[in-house]
Amino acid sequence: MAVTSWPDLLLACLFPLALLALGCGLFQSTTLSDVHDLVSLKSLAKKTGLFSLESALKSYASYPSLARNELARMRKSYSTLSRAHKRVGYNLGYPRKLDKLQSATDVNSIVTNAIADLAKAEFDLENSTSGSDANIGRVRESLKHFVRDWSEECREERDRMFKPILDVFRKIDVEERSGHKVLVPGCGLGRLAWEISELGFDTTANELSYFMILAFRFLLSSTTTTSSNEHTIRPYAHWFSHQRTVDSVFRSIPFPDVVPRLSSRFNLVERDFLTLSAPPTPPLHGYHNITTLFFIDTSLNIIETIEHIYTLLRPGGTWINLGPLLWSAGAQAKVELSLGEVIDVAEAVGFIFDHEGMDGTRGSRTVDCEYTADSKAMMQWIYKAEFWVAKKPK
Ligand SMILES: C[S@@+](CC[C@H](N)C(=O)[O-])C[C@H]1O[C@@H](n2cnc3c(N)ncnc32)[C@H](O)[C@@H]1O
Repeated sequence: MAVTSWPDLLLACLFPLALLALGCGLFQSTTLSDVHDLVSLKSLAKKTGLFSLESALKSYASYPSLARNELARMRKSYSTLSRAHKRVGYNLGYPRKLDKLQSATDVNSIVTNAIADLAKAEFDLENSTSGSDANIGRVRESLKHFVRDWSEECREERDRMFKPILDVFRKIDVEERSGHKVLVPGCGLGRLAWEISELGFDTTANELSYFMILAFRFLLSSTTTTSSNEHTIRPYAHWFSHQRTVDSVFRSIPFPDVVPRLSSRFNLVERDFLTLSAPPTPPLHGYHNITTLFFIDTSLNIIETIEHIYTLLRPGGTWINLGPLLWSAGAQAKVELSLGEVIDVAEAVGFIFDHEGMDGTRGSRTVDCEYTADSKAMMQWIYKAEFWVAKKPK
């Protein structure tokens, strides 16, 4: 039997009912935009389903076979070359290059299989994933996130964007830090949140996608990760474009450069950030700080995201943001705003931008940085990310 995620089930029930009610004229004031909202809700549920535990587990477990299928298609394309061109390819060593791709996916499979096995054990799941779609693209992205967050290879990429953020935290007295509650929504594989906790802050990492969560759990668990650089992946093997040499395509990256663990000052909350509530910390409720890194532009509704950041902060709390405005929800995003508009919304919600030490206008400044970059590739994608510190008034 196909297994369906809860949002799909909910919508499978609600959507036809709502349409029926509309048809019967039960909602007097229903407008076209209400219908549109229902359709968006359905898309949102589908989207959430895409990042569900079942979908992620199935994808990690299916990575070896999906990668084999892809390689079979590449071999087939090669086989359609003319005899003369095949000879050129043979002299170049192209068939051996395809064999190397198989070896690389075998290496990656050791990690993806271990992630799937850990997920089955920790969530008490057997192979109950038959209704979910496997997505090799998201698994490949997660492999690159191991490199971005937890390898020596991407130290420079991390330093560039972490430094302005961590410098804000470093200004706070060491004795005060353990009493400061920090939230990092959309934490990905959690490195920034972990770094903040290592400075002594009481840090909550939050993530919605089980592609990220399962990979992060693989690092956090002492059954799968016990020492630095004990795992190896070949994260660039799946992309032959922009590579100077065959060796650089198949190079191995060891990880993690340090071993993260959950602790009394570092926890992970696995759910939609919009469902979180302010921690009860008398006399004032809420986080002292919320830090968003490459996060706010993944919002379906950026206005709701900014409002929620504001709600979760205690009076006097700070919001640190660094990231671009790549509206990744595509047509599902309610609005896609410019930087000026985002800052307008934040100020309208109540935030006061901190101008101290900022060289840009209206309290933000630009940081050039990359994201899951391959340092040896023949292309470079530089984000002109914006960094700001904004305060909720006391
Ligand atoms: C572009 S990634 C950035 C990850 C990480 N901050 C980094 O810089 O590597 C955005 C992350 O936000 C997560 N995300 C998006 N919407 C979320 C939500 N409503 N609640 C929690 N996480 C969310 C995504 O799953 C994704 O891992």
